[in-house]
Amino acid sequence: MTARALPIEAPLDPQRIRADFPLLARSVHGKPLVYFDNANTGQKPAAVIEATSTFYREHNANVSRAVHQLGEEATAAYEAARDKLARFIGAPSRDEIVFTSGTTQAINLVAYSFALPRLEPGDAILVTQMEHHANIVPWQLVCARTGAKLKAAPIAESGELIVEKFVEMLTPEVKLAGVVHVSNVLGTVNPVAELARECRRRGIPLLVDGSQACPHMPVDVAALGCDFYALTGHKMFGPTGTGALWARREHLESMPPFFGGGEMIRRVSFEGTTFADPPHKFEAGTPNIAGVVGLGAAIDYLEGVGMRRIAAYERELLAYADAALARVEGLRVFGTAARKAAVISFLVEGAHAHDLATLLDHEGVAVRSGHHCAHPLMQFYGVPATARASLAFYNTREEVDRFVEALQRVRKLLR
Ligand SMILES: Cc1ncc(COP(=O)(O)O)c(C=O)c1O
Repeated sequence: MTARALPIEAPLDPQRIRADFPLLARSVHGKPLVYFDNANTGQKPAAVIEATSTFYREHNANVSRAVHQLGEEATAAYEAARDKLARFIGAPSRDEIVFTSGTTQAINLVAYSFALPRLEPGDAILVTQMEHHANIVPWQLVCARTGAKLKAAPIAESGELIVEKFVEMLTPEVKLAGVVHVSNVLGTVNPVAELARECRRRGIPLLVDGSQACPHMPVDVAALGCDFYALTGHKMFGPTGTGALWARREHLESMPPFFGGGEMIRRVSFEGTTFADPPHKFEAGTPNIAGVVGLGAAIDYLEGVGMRRIAAYERELLAYADAALARVEGLRVFGTAARKAAVISFLVEGAHAHDLATLLDHEGVAVRSGHHCAHPLMQFYGVPATARASLAFYNTREEVDRFVEALQRVRKLLR
């Protein structure tokens, strides 16, 4: 047997990538922009902006209803994005991709349509201490309606999930588990395949919040072995108000619709309504067609660069940033997991996160400050807020240097 040679991928050239993102050329407060708020939302390549505007200029029509030429073009473009997304995340079937407005809607769909009808008093949903509110609050809402309980598996000081505890907490009353693939605050990459194996062994469906994974690493839902995977398009350099839920076909078939209306039916009468097959059963009303077409263009763009290359580049950039930040006195970094994406939450002794972010902004460096929609995680670390620099494949070492230099000046100012 001859070994198949793996393709040797040239390293990513961030300058070539940057040229594709018009907004990165702008200045703020008279300084060239350093955009380090990618975990919040990603910037858009020209290809995405053009795909969206071309849709409106040349193809605009509603989907799945009109037989005229424009209607067919719009439907083809919308459905092509479904094919692209299915391929991008390794979904076994395009019919398992439900377009949503983002991760939040995707998780709510699972909460109301999958969990709610199954939960009884005494049942439980298991999540982790590091979840975004989008993977906490929907479960609390359905627990309140059913008498079920929400439990959270603990994390270590490093920001890593304590896997044995998570597994121990997979008791028979747990009817669903939810875990973030990559933490938006800590950058921790959770061992999803291992967690999925443990859940599967016990017959517990696992939902994965992939919001922060899809823009930064290859994702293969079939290989992960989870049951549901939620993602959001705007963090993947696509338009806001786009996203998807991937779910195993048997789950989608067993779930009642969440929203009712046009597009999602087979036949309606006042005596009763029959529903379309998944995924259309869950896509009531006119969707964000241009946005989904733009998301398709974002996927084309990411695939053109290569997710493995993106992951490798960001890994190196994170190592560079970690080394540079180690020289900043009084800096506390939250999240030091062995497997970590390029998200750096930090505080500087004696300074409030919002002051850090405001002063960095005046230096041209955009970072986020606050609780990052993760109150329970802030409680775990005993802080009200952190500042967060989150990097993407268009960021550079020079930008990291500017950030660290700006942080040094800010630190002196606040001392
Ligand atoms: C880990 C994680 N989950 C969920 C969300 C919610 O995404 P959206 O607001 O696009 O629905 C975010 C966004 O910040 C996130 O980082």
